[in-house]
Amino acid sequence: MTTRADIADYIKDQAALIERELERSVPAEWNMPAALREAMQYSLMAGGKRLRPILVLAAAEALGGRPEDALPVALAVEMIHTYSLIHDDLPAMDNDDFRRGKPTNHKVFGEAMAILAGDALLTHAFYSVVQAARKSGVPGDTIADIVEELSRLSGAPGMVGGQAADMEGEQGVTRLEELEYIHLHKTSDLIVFSVKAGGRIAGASREQLAALERFGTCIGLAFQIQDDILDLVGDETKLGKPVQSDVKQQKVTYPYFIGIEASQAKVEELTREAREAITTAGFPSPERLLQLADYLMKRDH
Ligand code: IPE
Ligand code: IPE
Ligand code: MG
Ligand code: MG
Ligand code: MG
Repeated sequence: MTTRADIADYIKDQAALIERELERSVPAEWNMPAALREAMQYSLMAGGKRLRPILVLAAAEALGGRPEDALPVALAVEMIHTYSLIHDDLPAMDNDDFRRGKPTNHKVFGEAMAILAGDALLTHAFYSVVQAARKSGVPGDTIADIVEELSRLSGAPGMVGGQAADMEGEQGVTRLEELEYIHLHKTSDLIVFSVKAGGRIAGASREQLAALERFGTCIGLAFQIQDDILDLVGDETKLGKPVQSDVKQQKVTYPYFIGIEASQAKVEELTREAREAITTAGFPSPERLLQLADYLMKRDH
């Protein structure tokens, strides 16, 4: 029998592995301004749950693949996620001063260097994906599929599009269906990428990729709704970022439209749907993905 402690230990171990690799992910011999390297490393190593890279590894494991082959792609998604957070916190966007329990990147390095550190992490993610071929011998065709999907899901029709729609959102104007678009793109898309990329490295079939896509879409939407809830009722020290940021910025959120209780019910319903996508797909080792879905539903940070 597995318990909540088991999955907490699994997350801790995987996060430690990911952090060791992240630390040395920017080659020491690359010549670059010291401040840029420092700004990139500051946010990359500031902590964070490492959810997306853990999902890459867990999805590979679910299909009998070797998680270590998926590691460079796991690092890549964390680089893109970290860049998105640096830019999300800028004064022109959410204007937040704390992230991952530390002052935001622009508070330490200034806005120009924060923008550039974000740009550099975004670019470096694609370098990292290619290392899955160079180091682990993942086939070039699989890498091409992963790069194509990462470009789409992190780019204009994906995460960046979701962030742009988020910026245009307005209380009293934006409708709930539009908020669903925002959440699906700004947050679910990178999570969908993560589980599908892990699956691709393990040689997933089209049907298995479709199941992973449904799983990722549901837990991704649930994750952002939970993020909205925690912005209202969470504990700032546990979260490592300010609460009431959405209220301050007059954001549209799920609790804004349907209240906290209905938002919590929606998180639970989406988690059930995510589990079902996996349990009906007959994966050889689905346990970690299922446990992660449950764990995220109950998270407080
Ligand atoms: C925060 O993501 C931004 C959202 C998409 C909600 P996480 O909650 O995964 O942040 P870290 O990586 O743990 O800091
Ligand atoms: C951010 O959503 C999503 C991305 C960075 C792509 P939020 O603005 O709600 O994230 P937090 O609450 O600042 O972490
Ligand atoms: Mg935001
Ligand atoms: Mg924000
Ligand atoms: Mg938020």
